[in-house]
Parts: sequence; structure tokens; C-alpha cells
Amino acid sequence: MTRLAGKTVFITGSARGIGRTFAEAYLREGAAHVVIADINLERAQETAKALGERAYAVRLDVTDQASIDAAIEETVGEFGGIDVLVNNAALFDLAPIVEITRASYEKLFAVNFSGTLFTLQAVAKAMIARGKGGKIINMASQAGRRGEALVAIYCATKAAVISLTQSAGLDLIKHGINVNAIAPGVVDGEHWDGVDALFAKYENRPRGEKKRLVGEAVPYGRMGTADDLTGMAIFLASSESDYVVAQTYNVDGGNWMS
Ligand SMILES: NC(=O)c1ccc[n+]([C@@H]2O[C@H](COP(=O)([O-])OP(=O)(O)OC[C@H]3O[C@@H](n4cnc5c(N)ncnc54)[C@H](O)[C@@H]3O)[C@@H](O)[C@H]2O)c1
Repeated sequence: MTRLAGKTVFITGSARGIGRTFAEAYLREGAAHVVIADINLERAQETAKALGERAYAVRLDVTDQASIDAAIEETVGEFGGIDVLVNNAALFDLAPIVEITRASYEKLFAVNFSGTLFTLQAVAKAMIARGKGGKIINMASQAGRRGEALVAIYCATKAAVISLTQSAGLDLIKHGINVNAIAPGVVDGEHWDGVDALFAKYENRPRGEKKRLVGEAVPYGRMGTADDLTGMAIFLASSESDYVVAQTYNVDGGNWMS
């Protein structure tokens, strides 16, 4: 359990959910420092406290360049550099095409795509300046593999994340920076509680029914958990993945093949 010994890991949107579970996994794997970077500073601080002294909370709004620069500068100042970035922060929304609002479109693209791009860019600059390479993991989704009725914007943001992973992966490998992505399927947690509530509204279902249906449809036989993703998250953060470049891995119980 020492594949990340000595490493500093920076995870966006890690106050809760998958990002928090990744932070726990990286600490178990020996990471020296894990930065819990989230727009919700209070919850980030609670999470960091619960994870112990190697976890460090910082406020980060991935839609704000000054916030990105400040969070990275603080991390580099505290720990000397960033070895691993997980671009995990994202928002979800649901609407039929004719009801999509410009505000929803702009918000989702600002967090899910621009936030991923400009955090990746800022961390890549810091990694290049340090000269030790690094690992960047973007959180995509099965939603980025194909469109879904009602989910147009979120699907488009995640397709864009897969495309960015390919371009950034090809451009940054010459600096020893591996950029790859994970495409989860349906992962139970607070995020999916919100998704279920939106489907209840738009498909006129009782609460909990959509979750049950998507779980039953997974070839593995159930929804995923954040823990189901940690093996891939550790692999992509470790030297075991040095020859893996610009890939997006499905970790979804068999929902999608590509
Ligand atoms: N849960 C799933 O079923 C599922 C499936 C596929 C992909 N994913 C992806 O995995 C990642 C994590 O998902 P999750 O289920 O843990 O989500 P979540 O909603 O539980 O957590 C997202 C975190 O991002 C933070 N955040 C929101 N806006 C931010 C901003 N502007 N700046 C910084 N932080 C911000 C939130 O405060 C929250 O802590 C996301 O990229 C999501 O799209 C999730």
C-alpha cells in the first residue's frame, strides 16, 4: 500500500462523494499530502479533519481563474509541488431539449469543462516548471460516450472532457505528464440522490425508482460505489500507468464498451 508514497495529490470537488473516497484511497496508498479542494470550504475542512493530518483543505472554485491560481499557489507553497491532479468537480442537470436554459448550459460547461481545462492547464504549468512530470486524471462519465434524452448538456460536457483528455494527453506526455480519464457509470451517493430527484420530476416517477432501474440495468447487477473506482484511480496516479497516455477507462460494471 505504498504506490503513492511521498506524493502530493490535489483533488477538485473532494469535500464529498467520489473525490472524498479517492482522497481516502490515496492516503491509504501512502500519499504524503492530499488536498481537498472544493467550493464548499466548510465541508472540505470537515472532510480534511476526518481524514487526518495528511489531508489539507483549500477553497477552490474551478470556474474562477484567480481561485484556481490561488489554490495551486497555496498547495505548491505548502508542499513543494503537485504530483497528481484529479479533475473531479462537476455539476449535473436535466431537461428536455426545448426546456434547456442558457444559464444551465453556461453553468455546467463552466464547471465541468472549463473548470477541468483551466485547472489542468494551471497544474500542468506547475508540473512543467518543476520538471518531475506528473499524473492528471479527469473524471469523465458514461454520459460522455453517447447522448441521452434529458441529459444533453451534461453528456456534452463529459464528451468534451474525453476529447480534452486525448488532446492534453498527447501534448503533455513529452513533459512526463500522463493525462487519462475515468468514465464511471452510475455511482450511488449524494450526487445520484439529486439525479434521482430530477428524473422523478421529469419522468413523473416516485423518488428512488430511477436509481433502482439504473442499478438493475447494470450488467454487474447493481449501481457502482465510489470504492469501485479506487483501483483505477490509484493505478492512473501511480508509476504503474507510465505508458498509459490519453485514455479514458470505463469503470461501470459493464454498461459501456469502447
Ligand atoms: N456519481 C455518479 O454516478 C457519476 C457517474 C459518472 C461520472 N461522475 C463524475 O464523477 C465526479 C464526482 O462525482 P460525485 O458523484 O462525487 O459528485 P458530487 O456532486 O457528490 O461531488 C461534486 C463536488 O464538486 C464540488 N463542486 C461543485 N462545483 C464546484 C466548483 N465550481 N469548484 C469546485 N468544486 C465544486 C461540490 O461541492 C462537491 O463536493 C464528477 O465529475 C461526476 O460528473 C459521477
